[in-house]
Amino acid sequence: MTAVHPQDPEETMADRADALVLFGATGDLARKKLFPAIYEMARAGRLGVPVIAVARSAWDDEQLRAYARESVQAARRGGVDPAALEHLVQNLTMVVGDYGDRDLYARLAGHLQDAKLPVFYLAVPPSVFPRVVSGLADVGLAERGRVVVEKPFGRDRVSAGELNEHLVSAFEERSIFRIDHYLGKESVEGLLVFRFANAFLEPFWNRNYVAGVQVTLAEGFGTEGRAGFYDGVGATRDVLQNHLLQVVALLAMEPPIADDADAYRDEEVKVLRQVRALDPATTVMGQYVGYLDEPGVAEGSTTETFAATRLAIDSWRWEGVPFSVRTGKHLPGSATEAVVELRRPPRLLFAGQDSSLPQPNLVKFRLGHDDGVTMTVQAKAPGARTVTTSVDLDVDFDEALGHRREAYERLLDDAMDGSRHRFARADTIEEEWRIVEPILDRDARPVPYYKGTWGPAEAEHLAGRWHPVSLRT
Ligand code: BG6
Repeated sequence: MTAVHPQDPEETMADRADALVLFGATGDLARKKLFPAIYEMARAGRLGVPVIAVARSAWDDEQLRAYARESVQAARRGGVDPAALEHLVQNLTMVVGDYGDRDLYARLAGHLQDAKLPVFYLAVPPSVFPRVVSGLADVGLAERGRVVVEKPFGRDRVSAGELNEHLVSAFEERSIFRIDHYLGKESVEGLLVFRFANAFLEPFWNRNYVAGVQVTLAEGFGTEGRAGFYDGVGATRDVLQNHLLQVVALLAMEPPIADDADAYRDEEVKVLRQVRALDPATTVMGQYVGYLDEPGVAEGSTTETFAATRLAIDSWRWEGVPFSVRTGKHLPGSATEAVVELRRPPRLLFAGQDSSLPQPNLVKFRLGHDDGVTMTVQAKAPGARTVTTSVDLDVDFDEALGHRREAYERLLDDAMDGSRHRFARADTIEEEWRIVEPILDRDARPVPYYKGTWGPAEAEHLAGRWHPVSLRT
């Protein structure tokens, strides 16, 4: 297969970072994703730099190392390479302090004396970003480093703009890496390859043949101990504004004019600019029953744990084609899937086996675990009558392509390399906020739904009818 992102000239000039600094190292993201990703770098022989963990918790190096070990063991259940894990923990050092304290950054600078190009990974709450960025700038670390910023990037368009101004005042644009980990997923990146490396899709990938597009990000679990964070965010800011809109952009955008980071983002931002701001009348917000009793959730919280909405794209390619998206916690199972439904063939021949109407073709992209593509086509049903039945042409990418690296492994490695292909640009994020703005912070209470259901009944009809998704329970 041709490489999706051959290095562009800018990136071939980039150097590999020589230190990794993890702000928020004792937190949830570090435990679940970042330490396992650093371990994978060690396993691939690509670590070889000091990893400095920064946090407010007064831990010493040994506590941190035990935490990193446990995190990797939990993530890799049994399949851990002891030498790689030891390499990781021996490179770890802890720096403790308050993010607003200048002394923390002075001590950090002391640890980084020999580092020419450190990467600063901000796995901290967004409210802390400005303090960390200023702290790094004050001691001269920003001018020679790269910064990786976790989502959510702001709370709305205005705060995202302010945060961005703050970042660009301290770091060069080419040194800012804005994470939307969906961009780091092989399966999500694969959407573009599937669309633009195969000639057969493009002729029907438009309003003349596509009846509708549905994107589902379903989770069979709840806030998993993160309710304190989640309650201030909700489904729209947590995943709809970023992950889901990125998937929509990749499904809907025009082919990039070149194989470089900016050409990709240019097309993404172009299609997002054509997406109408969301209409509250075609949006359903839900909250699962029991959410209000979880520790960390504010009394009487109106935070939505479910959101479903319909997007309209005012472009020549997509005018009139509904893009329905939904996401929620405590749904019947977990799946991230995009389904493109084609218009039904004219009813001239071959009525379906169990319907008088011919069934439409579907192209389904499974983007979560067990990723792959399924095309639902019509075949002749066995028997004397010439009628059709639906059959699936299916490919499982794990089976066909073998093991692929996880998003955080790829993104961390990219940031170390200075490769920006899989990171979001400020203007993309700004457009995403513009789109969701009308549905943010509404006064109306979200509609309650029971755990294990598909959210409020009102959402059922939003897409006409949601196609079944392949759930992992
Ligand atoms: C994160 C959200 O960005 O994405 C989580 O904060 C969500 O709430 C997660 O569970 C989903 O990502 P993935 O890769 O598991 O689909």
